[in-house]
Amino acid sequence: MKNILVINGPNLNMLGLREPAIYGSRDFKALLAFIQESAQQLGLEVECFQHNHEGAIVDKIQQAYGVFDGIVINPAAYTHTSVAILDALKAVSIPTVEVHISDVDSREDFRQRSFVSLYAEKVIKGHGFDGYKEALEYLAAKK
Ligand code: DQA
Repeated sequence: MKNILVINGPNLNMLGLREPAIYGSRDFKALLAFIQESAQQLGLEVECFQHNHEGAIVDKIQQAYGVFDGIVINPAAYTHTSVAILDALKAVSIPTVEVHISDVDSREDFRQRSFVSLYAEKVIKGHGFDGYKEALEYLAAKK
Protein backbone atom coordinates (compact mmCIF):
# COMPACT_ATOMS: atom_id res chain seq x y z
CA MET A 1 0.00 0.00 0.00
CA LYS A 2 1.34 3.43 -0.95
CA ASN A 3 2.07 5.78 1.93
CA ILE A 4 1.23 9.44 1.19
CA LEU A 5 2.06 12.55 3.21
CA VAL A 6 -0.42 15.44 2.94
CA ILE A 7 1.03 18.77 4.04
CA ASN A 8 -1.03 21.90 4.68
CA GLY A 9 0.68 25.22 5.26
CA PRO A 10 -0.15 28.34 7.27
CA ASN A 11 -3.72 29.42 8.03
CA LEU A 12 -5.31 26.34 6.48
CA ASN A 13 -6.13 25.28 10.04
CA MET A 14 -8.45 28.34 10.01
CA LEU A 15 -10.65 26.96 7.21
CA GLY A 16 -14.33 27.60 7.84
CA LEU A 17 -13.57 30.84 9.65
CA ARG A 18 -11.14 32.16 7.09
CA GLU A 19 -12.50 34.13 4.09
CA PRO A 20 -15.40 31.70 3.47
CA ALA A 21 -16.24 33.42 0.16
CA ILE A 22 -12.85 32.22 -1.13
CA TYR A 23 -12.18 29.01 0.83
CA GLY A 24 -15.71 27.80 1.64
CA SER A 25 -17.47 27.21 4.92
CA ARG A 26 -16.23 23.71 5.73
CA ASP A 27 -13.59 23.63 8.47
CA PHE A 28 -10.13 22.03 8.65
CA LYS A 29 -11.45 19.02 10.56
CA ALA A 30 -13.83 18.39 7.64
CA LEU A 31 -10.89 18.61 5.21
CA LEU A 32 -8.92 16.04 7.23
CA ALA A 33 -11.93 13.70 7.29
CA PHE A 34 -12.39 14.17 3.51
CA ILE A 35 -8.72 13.34 2.87
CA GLN A 36 -8.83 10.22 5.07
CA GLU A 37 -12.03 9.02 3.37
CA SER A 38 -10.59 9.65 -0.12
CA ALA A 39 -7.39 7.78 0.81
CA GLN A 40 -9.38 4.82 2.09
CA GLN A 41 -11.40 4.65 -1.15
CA LEU A 42 -8.17 4.67 -3.15
CA GLY A 43 -6.40 2.11 -0.96
CA LEU A 44 -3.77 4.58 0.22
CA GLU A 45 -2.21 5.08 3.63
CA VAL A 46 -2.18 8.79 4.42
CA GLU A 47 -0.67 11.01 7.10
CA CYS A 48 -1.80 14.65 7.38
CA PHE A 49 0.49 17.36 8.70
CA GLN A 50 -0.32 21.05 9.14
CA HIS A 51 2.01 23.77 10.33
CA ASN A 52 2.14 27.54 10.29
CA HIS A 53 5.96 27.69 10.32
CA GLU A 54 8.09 27.32 7.20
CA GLY A 55 10.96 25.52 9.00
CA ALA A 56 8.60 22.92 10.47
CA ILE A 57 7.35 22.14 6.96
CA VAL A 58 10.96 21.85 5.71
CA ASP A 59 11.74 19.47 8.62
CA LYS A 60 8.70 17.33 7.82
CA ILE A 61 9.65 17.08 4.12
CA GLN A 62 13.21 16.04 5.07
CA GLN A 63 11.83 13.39 7.44
CA ALA A 64 9.62 12.06 4.63
CA TYR A 65 12.64 10.63 2.82
CA GLY A 66 12.44 6.82 2.72
CA VAL A 67 9.07 6.86 4.50
CA PHE A 68 6.53 8.22 2.01
CA ASP A 69 5.90 7.32 -1.64
CA GLY A 70 4.22 10.62 -2.49
CA ILE A 71 3.50 14.09 -1.15
CA VAL A 72 0.40 16.24 -1.58
CA ILE A 73 1.19 19.78 -0.51
CA ASN A 74 -0.82 22.95 -0.16
CA PRO A 75 1.99 25.30 0.89
CA ALA A 76 -0.56 28.15 1.31
CA ALA A 77 1.20 31.55 1.47
CA TYR A 78 4.64 29.85 1.36
CA THR A 79 3.78 28.79 -2.19
CA HIS A 80 4.63 32.29 -3.31
CA THR A 81 7.73 32.89 -1.17
CA SER A 82 9.50 29.71 -0.11
CA VAL A 83 12.66 28.61 -1.87
CA ALA A 84 13.36 26.51 1.27
CA ILE A 85 10.27 24.33 0.72
CA LEU A 86 11.13 23.97 -2.99
CA ASP A 87 14.69 22.92 -2.09
CA ALA A 88 13.49 20.42 0.53
CA LEU A 89 11.19 18.77 -2.04
CA LYS A 90 14.05 18.59 -4.53
CA ALA A 91 16.33 17.14 -1.87
CA VAL A 92 14.06 14.21 -1.01
CA SER A 93 12.91 13.76 -4.62
CA ILE A 94 9.49 12.32 -3.69
CA PRO A 95 6.71 12.61 -6.34
CA THR A 96 4.67 15.65 -5.35
CA VAL A 97 1.33 17.20 -6.27
CA GLU A 98 0.66 20.84 -5.37
CA VAL A 99 -2.92 21.72 -4.42
CA HIS A 100 -4.70 25.05 -3.92
CA ILE A 101 -8.28 25.25 -2.72
CA SER A 102 -8.86 28.57 -4.49
CA ASP A 103 -8.11 29.44 -8.10
CA VAL A 104 -4.90 31.35 -7.46
CA ASP A 105 -4.62 32.23 -11.15
CA SER A 106 -7.60 34.54 -10.90
CA ARG A 107 -6.43 36.25 -7.70
CA GLU A 108 -3.83 38.92 -6.80
CA ASP A 109 -0.59 39.33 -8.77
CA PHE A 110 1.53 38.18 -5.82
CA ARG A 111 -0.21 34.78 -5.95
CA GLN A 112 0.81 34.20 -9.59
CA ARG A 113 4.27 32.88 -8.71
CA SER A 114 4.74 29.44 -7.18
CA PHE A 115 8.19 28.16 -6.23
CA VAL A 116 6.79 24.70 -5.44
CA SER A 117 5.41 24.43 -9.00
CA LEU A 118 9.02 24.33 -10.23
CA TYR A 119 9.20 20.85 -8.67
CA ALA A 120 5.63 19.52 -8.47
CA GLU A 121 4.61 16.95 -11.11
CA LYS A 122 1.07 18.26 -11.12
CA VAL A 123 -0.67 21.41 -9.84
CA ILE A 124 -4.39 21.51 -9.01
CA LYS A 125 -6.00 24.91 -8.42
CA GLY A 126 -9.51 26.03 -7.62
CA HIS A 127 -11.18 22.64 -7.12
CA GLY A 128 -11.83 23.12 -3.40
CA PHE A 129 -11.51 20.02 -1.20
CA ASP A 130 -11.85 17.83 -4.34
CA GLY A 131 -8.38 18.98 -5.41
CA TYR A 132 -6.86 16.89 -2.60
CA LYS A 133 -8.74 13.80 -3.83
CA GLU A 134 -7.58 14.43 -7.41
CA ALA A 135 -4.00 14.68 -6.12
CA LEU A 136 -4.37 11.37 -4.26
CA GLU A 137 -5.88 9.75 -7.39
CA TYR A 138 -2.88 10.91 -9.42
CA LEU A 139 -0.41 9.46 -6.91
CA ALA A 140 -2.41 6.23 -6.57
CA ALA A 141 -2.35 5.71 -10.36
CA LYS A 142 1.35 6.48 -10.68
CA LYS A 143 3.58 3.47 -11.50
C1 DQA B 1 -4.03 28.77 -1.00
C2 DQA B 1 -3.78 29.99 -1.89
C3 DQA B 1 -2.65 30.84 -1.33
O1 DQA B 1 -2.42 31.96 -2.16
C4 DQA B 1 -3.03 31.34 0.05
O2 DQA B 1 -1.96 32.07 0.62
C5 DQA B 1 -3.47 30.26 0.96
C6 DQA B 1 -4.29 29.16 0.44
C7 DQA B 1 -5.25 27.95 -1.49
O3 DQA B 1 -5.39 26.82 -1.01
O4 DQA B 1 -6.05 28.43 -2.29
O5 DQA B 1 -3.25 30.31 2.17
O6 DQA B 1 -2.90 27.93 -1.08
